[in-house]
Amino acid sequence: MQDVGLQLPFERSGVLEISPIYELLREKAPVVRVTTPTGDPAWVVLAYDEARLAFSDRRFGYYTHPNPESASRMSDAALHSAPMGGIDFEAEMGRLRKLMAPSFSPKRTRLLKDWIQELTDTCLDDMQAAHDRNPGEPVDYHEFLGYKLPVLVICVLLGVPVEDRDYVFGLSDRMGAYSSGSDPFVAMAELQEYMGRLVEVKRKNLGPDVISDMIAAQANDPSFFSTRPMESYAAGLVFPGHETTVARMDFGLLFLLTELSRRDWLMEDPEGRIDQTVEEILRSTSAHNLGLMRYALEDIEIGGVTIGTGDLVIIAEGAANRDPSKFERPDEFDPQRISKGHLAFGHGAHICIGQSLARTELRIVFPSLFTRFPGIELAIDVSELRVRNDRTGGGVDHVAVKW
Ligand code: HEM
Repeated sequence: MQDVGLQLPFERSGVLEISPIYELLREKAPVVRVTTPTGDPAWVVLAYDEARLAFSDRRFGYYTHPNPESASRMSDAALHSAPMGGIDFEAEMGRLRKLMAPSFSPKRTRLLKDWIQELTDTCLDDMQAAHDRNPGEPVDYHEFLGYKLPVLVICVLLGVPVEDRDYVFGLSDRMGAYSSGSDPFVAMAELQEYMGRLVEVKRKNLGPDVISDMIAAQANDPSFFSTRPMESYAAGLVFPGHETTVARMDFGLLFLLTELSRRDWLMEDPEGRIDQTVEEILRSTSAHNLGLMRYALEDIEIGGVTIGTGDLVIIAEGAANRDPSKFERPDEFDPQRISKGHLAFGHGAHICIGQSLARTELRIVFPSLFTRFPGIELAIDVSELRVRNDRTGGGVDHVAVKW
C-alpha cells in the first residue's frame, strides 16, 4: 500500500451526524485509502454491502496479523488499536465465545430483566436525589444513568463485589482514554491483576456469574486458558460492554429528546414501540470517528480494490449504517421505521456477544426514565456537544437534562 489516503478521523459537524466526507467518498468507491491518526496506512470500508462482506469473510483477521510487530495501528489507544496476537488468537477467541455463549443467551438475558430494572430504578432514585439537592438545576443523565448502568450490569454479570465496583469503573474509564501516556496500559494491567484475584476467590465459592462459568468450563476441559490466563478474558469483557453501551444510552436520549414528539410517540405505547425505537437508536448512533479493525490475512479483492496481505482495514460501521442503498433517508432518525439489518453489533463470526444484554438495558432505560420524569427535556444545546476523539469508544462527556 503506497498511496497516502485521506487523514482520519473525519470530523463531523454535529454529534448526532456523521462526517459528510463518508457520503462524498462512497459515491466514488465503497473502500478507500486513508491514513490513521498514528500516520499509518489503512483502508476504510464505507458502504453497507462491503462492510457486511468484510465482517463475514474470515480472510479479514480479527485483531490478528501475520506479523503483528509490523502492523499498522488505528490509534495510540491501549485497546482496539493494534493486533492482539498472531493467527492463533482468533481460534482461541472462537473457543471462548462458544464457552460464554450460554451466559449471554437471550434466555439468560430475559432472566436478568427484573434485576436490570432494579438497577435502573436505583439510578433513577439517584437522579431524583441530585435534582432535589439543587432544585431547578440540570442533572447529568450521563453520570447517573447512561454511564453507570452498563458498568453495574457488567460487574454483576462477572460477579464483581459491590465494594469493588467503583474501582473497576475507574479502571475501565482509564483504559479507554488516549493521549494519557502509558496510563491506559497501566490500568489494563491493573484490571487483569484484579480479575486474577477475583478468579481465586471464586474458585472457592462458585456463583451464578461468568467467571464461575469459566472456572467450571476449565474444570471440565483443562485445555481451556492454557495459552492465555482466564483473568485476561474476564478483564477483556469489561471494556467492550461498557463504553459501547454507554454511548447508545447517551445518544439514544439525545435522539429522543431533540424532538420531544419522539419521546411522546414512544410513551403512547412504550411496550409496543420500544423495540423498534432501540433498533433505530442502534442504527443511527455513530459513537466514534474511526471504526472496527481487521487485518487482511491474504490479498483480498473487495469493492473494486485489492487489499494487500497484512493491510489494516477499518470498517466504518456508523457510515455503513447510513448507506442510502440499504436504508432510505439514512440520516433521518425515525423510530417509526423498522431498521432491520443494521451493523451496530457487527456481523458474522464476531457479532457482539452482549447484544441481547445491551438491547435489554436500552429497552428498559428509556420507558423507565420517561415514566419517572414525564416532562424530561435536554438542558443543553445539542449543537454544543462534541464527540470525544480522545476515547476509544468516542461518546460524549455529559448529557444535562431538566424536568
Ligand atoms: C449497545 C451496546 C453494544 C454495542 C453497540 C456493541 C458493539 C459490538 C460490535 C460492533 C462488536 C463486533 C466487533 C468487531 O467485529 O470488530 C462487538 C463485539 C463484542 N462485544 Fe459488544 N457491543 C455492545 C454491548 C456489549 C455488551 C453489553 C457486552 C458484554 C457485557 C459486549 C461484549 C462484546 C464482546 C465480548 C465482543 C467480542 C466478540 C468476539 O470476539 O467474538 N458488548 N460488540
